[in-house]
Amino acid sequence: MEDTFRRQINYLRIAITDRCNLRCRYCMPATGVPLKSHQDILRLEEIVTLARVAGSAGINRIRLTGGEPLVRKNVVTLVRDLAALPGIKEVSLTTNGIFLSGLARPLKEAGLSRVNISLDTLKKDRYRYITRRGNISSVWQGIRAALAVGLTPVKLNVVVTRGFNDDEILDFARLAQEEPLHIRFIELMPIGAAAASGSGYVSMDEIKSQISRVFPLEPLANLVTNGPAVNFKVAGGTGSIGFISAMSSHFCHRCNRLRLTADGKLRPCLYWDGEIDIKGPLRAGASEAELAAIFARAVSLKPAEHHMETGWRQPRVMSQIGG
Ligand code: GTP
Ligand code: 5AD
Ligand code: SF4
Repeated sequence: MEDTFRRQINYLRIAITDRCNLRCRYCMPATGVPLKSHQDILRLEEIVTLARVAGSAGINRIRLTGGEPLVRKNVVTLVRDLAALPGIKEVSLTTNGIFLSGLARPLKEAGLSRVNISLDTLKKDRYRYITRRGNISSVWQGIRAALAVGLTPVKLNVVVTRGFNDDEILDFARLAQEEPLHIRFIELMPIGAAAASGSGYVSMDEIKSQISRVFPLEPLANLVTNGPAVNFKVAGGTGSIGFISAMSSHFCHRCNRLRLTADGKLRPCLYWDGEIDIKGPLRAGASEAELAAIFARAVSLKPAEHHMETGWRQPRVMSQIGG
């Protein structure tokens, strides 16, 4: 599918739940966010139907997100059904990793290609503080399991926040040198709790210059990616370092994606409140051709770029959009 700005849209991020087992401070308030009722959330068969329609309309890569996708029951069956759809070349998943160790092998066997895991700190106590309830050793078990079963390349998402983890940038860079892990530093976006606090932003330029003083970086072209990161090889290392500069140098001109929220809305852009209901027509019995036309309309509504810097407040938090 081509949008009005001649971008090819072939990638769909599907949030399969709005629930999360963590409460990361930059994402949510301690009390969590209001959740949709079960009736409002797409059933797994509905997700598969929509993905099949998307596949016939030109989507060839799917990423499952949330909330935390691994809290959804029968996620392995869902992956199996999605991976078997005609036209779908890759199904991947973004997770906080807490439940990954037990699921890595069944997910791999079901056809999952790879995982991106959120890990903002390497310190046990700090992890508990940032996530308010997570245990970092579960995440490491998940990372090890993903590497062991070949859900690779394994990427670690590190949202850098001033005063939280900006003193660990070199430790993460060292990890990319020592292990086959692909570290992606992410600029904090004014979404969710981060928007309410209005502080914590660290630019990718600052992070990159700190790293390149110690670890020479060389451009890297061949890392499997569908997304916004710009990736580098660390000299002598087995992993890589990527930068997702969502704010300072946004990548909207090469955007390739649509989002489907857990409650069945198509979102043309992460940071835009325009959403197109597709669950209503699906439940009302729309044909696959009619549903395909709704995907095409969502693509046609993609804005040229986001305007996070203008102060307009995205009303949903990341766990309600799918990141
Ligand atoms: P691959 O390149 O396929 O490995 O995945 P990805 O980097 O696109 O996916 P992931 O879910 O790991 O996202 C990493 C970070 O990029 C998250 O913080 C997302 O919120 C952010 N991100 C993903 N897509 C977009 C986007 O369209 N716009 C913006 N501004 N940020 C995005
Ligand atoms: N800014 C940047 N990234 C965020 N994430 C959640 N909230 C924000 C934010 N305000 C990240 C998570 C996860 C990914 C899906 O989105 O840490 O890695
Ligand atoms: Fe943390 Fe992601 Fe859960 Fe938000 S959705 S609380 S960022 S793990």
